[in-house]
Amino acid sequence: MVVDLLLVGFGNVARRFVRLLDERAERLRHDHDLTWRVIGIATRRHGAACALDGLDVARALELVEAGDSLDALAAPPDARVLPGAASRDQPELSCRRTPASSQGLSWIPASAGMTAGLDSGLRRNDKGAEADTGISTAFIRRTIEDARRRDPARPIIMVETTLLDIERGQPAVAHVRAALECGADVVTANKGPVAFAARELLDLAARHHRAFLFEGAVMDGIPIFNLVRETLPAVSITGFRGVVNSTTNHIITAMEEGREFDAALAEMQEAGIAEADASFDVDGWDAAAKTAALVNVLMGGSVTPHAIDRTGIGRLTGVAVRDAVARNRRVRLVASARLQDGRPVGRVAPEELPSADLLAALTGQQNALVLQTDLLGEIGIVQRGSGLTTTAYALLGDLVAVRRQLSTGATAQDRRDAKMGPAGHRS
Ligand SMILES: NC(=O)c1ccc[n+]([C@@H]2O[C@H](COP(=O)([O-])OP(=O)(O)OC[C@H]3O[C@@H](n4cnc5c(N)ncnc54)[C@H](OP(=O)(O)O)[C@@H]3O)[C@@H](O)[C@H]2O)c1
Repeated sequence: MVVDLLLVGFGNVARRFVRLLDERAERLRHDHDLTWRVIGIATRRHGAACALDGLDVARALELVEAGDSLDALAAPPDARVLPGAASRDQPELSCRRTPASSQGLSWIPASAGMTAGLDSGLRRNDKGAEADTGISTAFIRRTIEDARRRDPARPIIMVETTLLDIERGQPAVAHVRAALECGADVVTANKGPVAFAARELLDLAARHHRAFLFEGAVMDGIPIFNLVRETLPAVSITGFRGVVNSTTNHIITAMEEGREFDAALAEMQEAGIAEADASFDVDGWDAAAKTAALVNVLMGGSVTPHAIDRTGIGRLTGVAVRDAVARNRRVRLVASARLQDGRPVGRVAPEELPSADLLAALTGQQNALVLQTDLLGEIGIVQRGSGLTTTAYALLGDLVAVRRQLSTGATAQDRRDAKMGPAGHRS
């Protein structure tokens, strides 16, 4: 089966993902009858392009990695303008025909550029999804609609890897909503959609009989959401505790060894592991977004990262961390949730743990999650290695899961509904 991929975000993760697909092409074809074409790529500063016969992905990689625009994938523009986009309130898109195909169209941001269009959209309206995301949502809708018109039978999967927005999860939430409404399946490594709108998007996916999968949102490709969804039928998750942020764990364990906070943070920034804005990690926002995602998906909650009781590691001192070690204890930034009056309540805070605790043994970039269940006691999942490949693998694994669902006709949401009830509450 050939699937069409629409890549929204073409940064480190998405580029590793397309290379990983290439590296595993034979296995995917042989074991899963899965081959693909990339029909669209959207970025913020490098333009966007689509070609319904398939884009030249190798060329797209070259262009973006050289800091160039995807415009070079397309021939000079013809006169058409994306309907509905070129108004005073909407950023303008011009339509270009790709040299590769007389049928293929390439939607490229016009002179205003994607950044300007998107930012002005965000300032204009904090409610309407279409206005929020302007050009990128219009691109998603138009590409999917064109592809479906051309070949209604061919599956389209949007791969969303834009950046996490900790205020509202946008524009990713609107990207996912648009793709599902237009009939595409969605896989994402972005925490935003599940941290801010899991219930809405899972229900939307179920209504449209589409998949919405997000394994990369927590602990990369290590099975968490799919472990529960696929292998724990009739089990309820009653709580969890984990170390889910690599940067802060690296800083804390460096301080245990007598090194400075700032130097350890700089190492994570240099390695490209810390978030672009390091306060996301240090202040616990990344862990809070993951906690919200876990609460929403595994415990039937409906929270955002702002509802998580959050304390970062900014006030931790080397003296306090080493004092804990001297008493055979360890400080770790723990993300957790428990049921309070039947409702899940999440928390992120540094905790002092006995050294025999599974979480206390995690050093450097290691992560772990302990799920508390009603039937199986505690289930611990440990991640000892992480990086771009593990995140890219999460997308690949989700892609194969969508492929399987396309064969059986049962979406993950159908199975989730069977397990959790249509509103996401566990029965
Ligand atoms: N890196 C990791 O190890 C890792 C691990 C787990 C999860 N994640 C998550 O994966 C996602 C991607 O991470 P990354 O490291 O690949 O980030 P990145 O290298 O900064 O790439 C982000 C991509 O999104 C594009 N973009 C941003 N806003 C956009 C918009 N409104 N419309 C279209 N494209 C937009 C950017 O375009 P420009 O380049 O043109 O600005 C860029 O191509 C993030 O949500 C991150 O939290 C990353």
